[in-house]
Amino acid sequence: ATGTVPPRDLEGVRVVVSAGGTREPLDPVRYLGNRSSGKQGYALARIAAQRGAEVTMVAAHTVALPPPAGVHEVHVSTARQLGEAVRSAAAGADVVVMAAAVADFRPATTAEAKIKKSDDTPDPTITLDRNPDILAGLVRDRRPGQVVVGFAAETGDASGSVLDHARAKLRRKGCDLLVVNAVGEGRAFETEDNAGWLLRADGAERPIPLGSKSQLAIAVWDAVAELRAR
Ligand code: CTP
Ligand code: CA
Repeated sequence: ATGTVPPRDLEGVRVVVSAGGTREPLDPVRYLGNRSSGKQGYALARIAAQRGAEVTMVAAHTVALPPPAGVHEVHVSTARQLGEAVRSAAAGADVVVMAAAVADFRPATTAEAKIKKSDDTPDPTITLDRNPDILAGLVRDRRPGQVVVGFAAETGDASGSVLDHARAKLRRKGCDLLVVNAVGEGRAFETEDNAGWLLRADGAERPIPLGSKSQLAIAVWDAVAELRAR
């Protein structure tokens, strides 16, 4: 709540937070992107710094946001650049939080000159290549004791509920904590609010009440501090 002093329970803890949405270039003026605002990653970075952490934030594209106080910022554009920056920062980190919206695919080729339309040639088709899974790589190369946190935005569908999909993703990704946003009905993207679950690798599950991105960030750092205290 406003006016309360944040705890200093992350004093000296080295954390890396990724934020925002990557852009994958098609040509010098066009890209494939996503609707991530970056607000959640910025809130995570800001609150970790308030709680005493040494924070590196690797930010892709975001809406205009005030720089989080006391945070070292690295700015990138593509998924591959974000992967490089996160990997190198993670090598000296105690906690890594992947809040960025990373493009799963990129155009297989990037045209050096602007793509033109023409009446004499067929309209182009975009072929996509898969981007590396940064989170999976972090889990694979995890340092002893390092806490790795993933984010997932899920909707329910015919094959399962939000929680079913989220539990399967936690197992697939192998991270210590998965922050699940229930999306749909205009929630989460380009809004101030989130609601979902915190799923822990040991099976502990906690609902996240509808609240601000700052409140969600507080809940994530509470869960990280708890994991580190074990
Ligand atoms: N992520 C990542 N690298 C990628 C894609 C995703 O590190 N190439 C991270 C995201 O930052 C997030 C987590 O993985 O923390 C889950 O992302 P999500 O898109 O939900 O998972 P995917 O495995 O890409 O599954 P889906 O097919 O549902 O998109
Ligand atoms: Ca994805």
